[in-house]
Amino acid sequence: MKIKVAVLGATGMVGQRFIQPLVDHPFFELSCLAASGRSAGKPYKEATKWVLDENMPEGIGDTVVVACDPKEVDADIVFSALPSSIAKEVEPAFAKAGFIVASNASTYRMGPDIPLLIPEVNPEHLDMIEVQKKNHGWDGCIVTNPNCSTIMAILSMKPVFDAFGIESAFVATMQAISGAGYSGVKSMAILDNVIPFIGGEEDKVETEGQKLLGKFNGEKIEFADFKVSASCNRVHVLDGHTENVFLKTREPCTPEDVKKVMRDFKALPQELKLPTAPENPIIVREEPDRPQPRLDRGAGNGMSVTVGRVRKDSIFDVKYTVMGHNTIRGAAGASILNAELIYKKVLNL
Ligand SMILES: NC(=O)c1ccc[n+]([C@@H]2O[C@H](COP(=O)([O-])OP(=O)(O)OC[C@H]3O[C@@H](n4cnc5c(N)ncnc54)[C@H](OP(=O)(O)O)[C@@H]3O)[C@@H](O)[C@H]2O)c1
Repeated sequence: MKIKVAVLGATGMVGQRFIQPLVDHPFFELSCLAASGRSAGKPYKEATKWVLDENMPEGIGDTVVVACDPKEVDADIVFSALPSSIAKEVEPAFAKAGFIVASNASTYRMGPDIPLLIPEVNPEHLDMIEVQKKNHGWDGCIVTNPNCSTIMAILSMKPVFDAFGIESAFVATMQAISGAGYSGVKSMAILDNVIPFIGGEEDKVETEGQKLLGKFNGEKIEFADFKVSASCNRVHVLDGHTENVFLKTREPCTPEDVKKVMRDFKALPQELKLPTAPENPIIVREEPDRPQPRLDRGAGNGMSVTVGRVRKDSIFDVKYTVMGHNTIRGAAGASILNAELIYKKVLNL
């Protein structure tokens, strides 16, 4: 049975990424595209500046964009690709009106009763939806996906955390331009350049992982006890965040042990064969010069992260490089996978 879904912020960089996979989705029927008052009332092809390599799916261009108002939207699940300042008002309004909100925005990620979800990492945190509904008196709910850099780092750390424990981690990111939205970084600023600052990013990477790897005790999340230090950089790459990860583990392990647990890693989305779940969430490569954004961002249709250069570290225990597609695994694909898990495990369809 298909249910109706809508995209809020459909004209933006992440909003566009939602459209292709939702046009022909086995669980979802894309029923509505919403954006700001500037776009409402216009056909989608006039309201958006299409920036993806693939053409806009047939028929979508003539869809009339509506405002992000619960009264205007006909859907069961809304995907939010709104700027966080706008999501602050809009997402609770939709949850109150009975919609399931699958959000990309950072606004509510760390809320004590909001699931922050990577379906391969913490699917059991979805049980917190009941607590959230009770706390707010909502018929609907908000479920968020983490920051794009956090997703790559924590998905790759999950099998290591489970097998050997993690005491501390250092993450240095090299983040793609698309992560800031279409007009986020000026070409004159980023061409031939690296910008060693992304506002608010380090704080997200340093704090979201403890919630993701924490345990839901029936009332709240008990955060995992490990420290993360992050250093975030914007680099001259269109799509694909690359990250150098350094781990101090609780139990001794070799680079070979780490590669094995990463390669063997499968989780609930793979077991349930969710449509967006990649066969291998983590691909481990042996070549000394991989992963690279241009070569590896399409792995698993953009939903796998690729790990390479797993080796011993003289200060930490082990270090590696991880790379993933920031607007697919790090944004739209992440929300769609969350919604697929909700379809199976919350709506029981
Ligand atoms: N890019 C990434 O890699 C990435 C990764 C993870 C998470 N995110 C998060 O995803 C969200 C969207 O990012 P983006 O890069 O797609 O941004 P974007 O390209 O700037 O798009 C913003 C969207 O929000 C809409 N919007 C703006 N103001 C609005 C208002 N007052 N009311 C209703 N809609 C409004 C815009 O509609 P109009 O066209 O009508 O203005 C547009 O559809 C952000 O919260 C971002 O932090 C992005």
